[in-house]
Amino acid sequence: MQVVVVGLGYVGSVCSACLSNRGHSVVGVDTSGFKVECIQRGMSPIVEKDLGELIAAAREKGLLRATTDIASAMPGADLVLVCVGTPSAEDGSLDLDHVKRACAEVGKALPHTGKFTTVVMRSTMLPGSVLGELTPVLEAASGLKMGESFGVAYNPEFLREGTAVADFFGADYTIIGAGSERAGESLKAMYAGVGGELMVTSIPSAEMLKYVNNSFHALKVAFANEVGRICKREGIDSHEVMRLMVRDTKLNLSPYYLSPGFAFGGSCLPKDLRAIQSRSRQHGLDLPVIQNIVRSNEVHIEEAIHLIERFKHRRLGFLGLSFKAGTDDLRESPILRVIGTLVGKGYPVLLHDPNIDMERVLGANRRFVEDEVPYLTERLRADLDDVLANSDVLIVGNRAAQYRDIGPRLKVGQVLVDLVAAVDRTSVTHGEYHGLAW
Ligand SMILES: NC(=O)c1ccc[n+]([C@@H]2O[C@H](COP(=O)([O-])OP(=O)(O)OC[C@H]3O[C@@H](n4cnc5c(N)ncnc54)[C@H](O)[C@@H]3O)[C@@H](O)[C@H]2O)c1
Repeated sequence: MQVVVVGLGYVGSVCSACLSNRGHSVVGVDTSGFKVECIQRGMSPIVEKDLGELIAAAREKGLLRATTDIASAMPGADLVLVCVGTPSAEDGSLDLDHVKRACAEVGKALPHTGKFTTVVMRSTMLPGSVLGELTPVLEAASGLKMGESFGVAYNPEFLREGTAVADFFGADYTIIGAGSERAGESLKAMYAGVGGELMVTSIPSAEMLKYVNNSFHALKVAFANEVGRICKREGIDSHEVMRLMVRDTKLNLSPYYLSPGFAFGGSCLPKDLRAIQSRSRQHGLDLPVIQNIVRSNEVHIEEAIHLIERFKHRRLGFLGLSFKAGTDDLRESPILRVIGTLVGKGYPVLLHDPNIDMERVLGANRRFVEDEVPYLTERLRADLDDVLANSDVLIVGNRAAQYRDIGPRLKVGQVLVDLVAAVDRTSVTHGEYHGLAW
């Protein structure tokens, strides 16, 4: 395929070299005469393992050239990959100026490619940038309509400097945020044989994913470093601890706990986080990530309360009281915080949980109920139908099997607030469905 790469920095020069070595015909464009000159001489404009060799090989095969003149690069282009910088503005917001300027140039040349060309943003940019800010620039500069005469896509770059070439050829997956089927097909054809699994999604999801990935990577580094700081104070080998921690691929390094849902609770996580927070304070240690996990959880509980209060209806029916399905342990169940707040505000509330039978709640759990949720006994209903029939807003608080199918049972005017992603929203045919964070 004929590929134009705009911006020959770390991302653009690696893309140009790797794609031309896959047999595509690549023209690199940069405003920097130095970078263009490097490529023309078969040299790498940046320090990066194996890149010089790949550029030299592609130049020799006649599959790679570079220019400062975008218009001369565009005729015949199947794809244009925009890889210019997106720095931080003074206030920390994202500066799209370079990308907008590059898109204006690309747009001017779009009517002269002689093909349906797909413009692919590879620079990191916030959700809404491609469709809301850059597509209008492309349309205005070209006088063409996106989807009819040209395509757009977002293809986030995940390379790591230092191993960028290996990352390109050995990628786990490639994310294709496609503005249309045709744009997606074009990118898939370009990646044929490399890039791991090609996964097509919407442009905003692909834009967001890049930030989610980088936030998670940064979180991992900060978390591991905080573990290191507290281990050192305790005289414990932090590397040994983390080596063992990552060996658990069931709960630790796995998709488990990584799906948006309700706040954590139960008898362990809140208590143990408080203990480690308290110990770190005794050491005079500042561990902002670990110390703010409980705070983040509190904010999530407050968000649930706001969501429920948004509806004018007053009669609330809570389905699922324990912190997870299949247990009657009510200690530190976060839904009880929601219920307690709303009962305190005078909302009429009914409760249901298949595992809670007041006759059988014993021991520490019983004391907890008597002290913390004295309203439970009089509001708990054994019959789910009773709660369904006498509530305007139904709030699903755990994933007990019998709540999954309540969607079709909702009546017109009833609202379902799903705090745990238990109910399929398409099954709610008469009422309204609202997810907590989805
Ligand atoms: N460097 C990385 O490891 C990495 C990894 C993933 C994503 N990204 C993202 O990719 C984007 C590019 O990053 P980078 O590190 O390659 O940037 P960079 O600063 O190294 O390169 C950007 C290049 O674009 C050129 N340029 C600017 N405006 C231009 C224009 N109008 N026309 C032609 N060329 C123009 C610049 O001269 C420069 O050579 C950024 O959004 C970055 O966040 C970078």
